[in-house]
Amino acid sequence: MIGKDFLTIEQLEPDELLGLIADAAWLKANRRPFDLLAGKSVALLFQKPSLRTRVSFEVAATELGAHCLYLSPAEVGLGEREDVADVARVLSRYVHAIVARTFFHKDIEALARAADIPVINGLSDQSHPCQILGDLLTIQERFGSIRGLTVTFVGDGNNVARSLIEAAPRAGFAFRIACPSGYEPDADAVERALNIDPESVVISQDPSSAVRGADVVYTDVWFSMGQEAEREQRASIFPPFRLTADLLQCASPQAIVMHCLPAHRGEEITDEVMESPQSAVFDQAENRLHAQKALLANLLAPQSAGGLWLAESTRATK
Ligand code: CP
Ligand code: NVA
Repeated sequence: MIGKDFLTIEQLEPDELLGLIADAAWLKANRRPFDLLAGKSVALLFQKPSLRTRVSFEVAATELGAHCLYLSPAEVGLGEREDVADVARVLSRYVHAIVARTFFHKDIEALARAADIPVINGLSDQSHPCQILGDLLTIQERFGSIRGLTVTFVGDGNNVARSLIEAAPRAGFAFRIACPSGYEPDADAVERALNIDPESVVISQDPSSAVRGADVVYTDVWFSMGQEAEREQRASIFPPFRLTADLLQCASPQAIVMHCLPAHRGEEITDEVMESPQSAVFDQAENRLHAQKALLANLLAPQSAGGLWLAESTRATK
């Protein structure tokens, strides 16, 4: 049972996180229409643009028999036209789950508090847990398992980095981040990860040493959605943290390259690295679909009350 909402990776026990990845792998291997969520509706309540999150949730819901509604910022005016809690209470009367993408994480928390239905974090300024579900599936596919691997993130200590930090002690990988001074990930999240596993997170300002021997080299944009005003300032600070072919040479020869996308090609990652045989970025994008399907099934399928629904029963019966 993974709880009513899915707001952060931190809320998951290790077996719940790995159970979701197992379900995602099974759903990928058995991709076909299901009627598991027939008659259910999911609202996608987005304050920021999206390609992968919106499309993967819409297709995932459809393939599970459910229906999605996309609600753009212009339609809802979350917190502006209408109080956040009131939006949650109204949607609870219509739909069976909300996937929310907001500027402020506190707005997703407020939605979850006021809603009677599951609320899923589809990205906030703080974290991007749905991304990491697809990423862990990708890593597992490439390496057979996740435990014992080293994942190095080069760039801004942002929402994606934070969700990776939360995943590290739960999925059993070592997380290193190389970032400029002042752009470190949230200190409290790092401390909580270190309290679970003191070896799970290392922070440095030296990309070459952080990448040395890594199995996965991950990067993301230097400025996230909502930080556009900082673009120029960040562009003067981050170039030493660009993922180039030279930097990738420091990693394990079998290393894969990951990026949550969208990429700003030529900024945080070169075309050469994006297109190299080591790049797993489009597998990552695909795996959002299978991961989001596993998440919706576990949160919304009637049988989910007993545990990871697909792991427990679907495989045996479908
Ligand atoms: N990675 C990701 O979440 O992409 P979108 O912003 O396009 O949804
Ligand atoms: N850090 C990026 C991730 C986009 C999927 C952002 O928040 O814009």
